[in-house]
Amino acid sequence: MRVYDLITKKKHGEKLSKDEINHIIEGYVSGDIPDYQISSLLMAIYFQGMDLEETINLTEAMINSGDVVDLSHVEGITADKHSTGGVGDKTSLALLPLMASCGLKVSKMSGRGLGHTGGTLDKLESIPGFNINLSKEEMSSVVNSVGFAIAGQTANLVPADKKLYALRDVTATVDNMSLIASSIMSKKIASGADNIMLDVKIGSGAFMKDIGHAVELAETMVSIGRGFNRNVGVVLTNMEEPLGMAVGNSLEVIEAVNTLKGNGPGDFTELCIFLNSAMLKLTGIVSDIEDGKSMTMEALESGSALHKFREFVSAQGGDVSYIDETDRFESTKYSYEMICPKDGYIEAIDAEKIGICSLMTGAGRETKESDISYSAGILLHKKTGSRVEKGEILGVIYTDREGIEGELRDMFMSSYKFSSSPTKKKETIIGLVD
Ligand code: URA
Repeated sequence: MRVYDLITKKKHGEKLSKDEINHIIEGYVSGDIPDYQISSLLMAIYFQGMDLEETINLTEAMINSGDVVDLSHVEGITADKHSTGGVGDKTSLALLPLMASCGLKVSKMSGRGLGHTGGTLDKLESIPGFNINLSKEEMSSVVNSVGFAIAGQTANLVPADKKLYALRDVTATVDNMSLIASSIMSKKIASGADNIMLDVKIGSGAFMKDIGHAVELAETMVSIGRGFNRNVGVVLTNMEEPLGMAVGNSLEVIEAVNTLKGNGPGDFTELCIFLNSAMLKLTGIVSDIEDGKSMTMEALESGSALHKFREFVSAQGGDVSYIDETDRFESTKYSYEMICPKDGYIEAIDAEKIGICSLMTGAGRETKESDISYSAGILLHKKTGSRVEKGEILGVIYTDREGIEGELRDMFMSSYKFSSSPTKKKETIIGLVD
């Protein structure tokens, strides 16, 4: 089989067979097929697309490129969640305790932040003592005893995706439906859970900019899941503005803890309740979303989800006193209040710009090797739809970095758009595909 012929085939819009797709992925991972041929093939896929059968075959070839996690030693119903990423997205921190309180078992492998979006592992490591390096045995012991665990990737999961994603990133071929769907689903299926809830973000801070494409991606991922005997649900959610009020590592942990204590921001609380309810329906624990919401509210209001979070922090070596008294988290050397320049209404807050501003504070990583500050970040005081008056505080920026106040102020203020007439609050949940 010549790769040249396979590129030509796809260039003319023909379908690739399972054997051909396997040949490409195996050859690329082993190093026999060079980047330049795969780049060319990716661009042909970008323009000609792949049908569902090709997309499922690509997903399978990617899964087979590495290890598959075996969760057979986990007792109970296994579930996992994934978000396509956004600014202020600390959902795992509050959702997993809710899922565990309702009887689900979650063994989650998370990532670090890069660029303008944060990573769950960095947020957790802001809790003194917290250990994200668990062996397979430690991970299953925490999952079986607490109900959930979160760790860095231990197994060699989907190496094909690592190589392909890096290449797509520099060849302008990220935004193809089949490539995105196979990339996300190969990692989720290889992670072993039977039930998978995906949170697909739509908006300026996300890589899906419109509903039409997001629905197509959601339907493709649900169909891939069926092909592998997994239950998959997708919640489409808003990422036009940051999620919640906090952006930054310990700031987001504090917000998640406040949410579990019943004092979280409205949009973030609504998202966690909806995702958990949809998850309970997906796994058959309840028969409709409304019953799921009642069960979720009970887990929140009884304090059982907060208790799960404490147990989880303690089981992974973290100092629980920081959860009980979140004032214990260190603050930064500098804090700058952002002042509203005029009377009016907030029409938009550009999530990506707030993400970049947070990166500039030191909360995020510019390169894989950068050090991050756990306390730096941004606390918004006002969101879209709010009436504001000149002189009010729109938000506070926290940083340890010297001499960047002017740049931070410019970036923060450039993310806000004001209107003289009333504006609408952005809806949090856009739809559900399952
Ligand atoms: N997230 C992924 O994991 N893969 C993609 O291709 C896009 C987003």
